[in-house]
Amino acid sequence: MPGLPLILDCDPGVDDAVALLLALAAPEALDLLAITTVAGNVGGDLTARNACLIRELAGRPDIPVFAGQDRPLVRPPVAADHFHGASGLGDLPAGVPTQGPEIRPAVDYLISVLRDRPPGEVTIAVTGPMTNLAEAIRRAPDVVPRIRQVVAMGGARREGGNITASAEYNIHADPHAADIVVRAGLDLVLLGLDVTHQVAATEARRDRIARLRSPQSHAVRQLLAFSARTEAELGTGGPPPLHDPCVILWLLAPEIFTLRPCHLAVETESPLTLGHTAVEFRTSERLPANARWATSADSDAAFARIEALLERYG
Ligand code: BDR
Ligand code: CA
Repeated sequence: MPGLPLILDCDPGVDDAVALLLALAAPEALDLLAITTVAGNVGGDLTARNACLIRELAGRPDIPVFAGQDRPLVRPPVAADHFHGASGLGDLPAGVPTQGPEIRPAVDYLISVLRDRPPGEVTIAVTGPMTNLAEAIRRAPDVVPRIRQVVAMGGARREGGNITASAEYNIHADPHAADIVVRAGLDLVLLGLDVTHQVAATEARRDRIARLRSPQSHAVRQLLAFSARTEAELGTGGPPPLHDPCVILWLLAPEIFTLRPCHLAVETESPLTLGHTAVEFRTSERLPANARWATSADSDAAFARIEALLERYG
């Protein structure tokens, strides 16, 4: 059976880079049509460059990279380079890729691929702010029913926020985009901090990855070591969570996660709680289910799968 037609919309980003390497390790399961990038953790020129570097590291220069929106829909940009380093890739050597991104902007690509492909075929994985997808929906609402599913890393309920007291970074960085996506009537799966904090790269898990010998697993080891140092320096407490890889894990092994239908709403106005995700499990006619929210993850199974995927690089 051919793999799931997938577009990975990301802002690499240390954990986006790991997610990309995992997705590119499973071509029989995930038919990655393209990588689209967005400004987020670092600026848009850097996230596009980083995606090009990672596809080369994975030996997949054939996967097109489309650079997307370079600022959020409404609010001013908010970077997370304190978590990802100035280049966005921690302390990985980040040079100039052999091949840069395509000329066509990501939003144009998204609209045309969704119109060209049979309805219900293409899944979109989002591991950055939702600006590209929201802009595509805004310009071409006819694409919405053509999307099979959107699986996104974003939001927080039980865990509280990681960029403000109550907001998770991806949603906080473009709450108006997230609001458009949440209200669009999509099949939407959200993997927020409630689960990504459970999938933590402990020292023992990082050591197991360090035993793998490929350049790709070596890069993952370096990225995770950078994140571990950064989390310690910033005093966030505990080993680095693997946020974005959860999206790929869910696509490959959904049994790792427990999900609950919910009514999801995004705060777009309050300066105090901007980007907060209000997750209501008590759905009703007034508050119908519009998403599925991940509540728990089997972290041992998640890391077993991560190792197995990285082992494929040989
Ligand atoms: C999310 O924010 C970004 O900094 C990470 O790449 C991840 O997508 C976690 O809140
Ligand atoms: Ca990200």
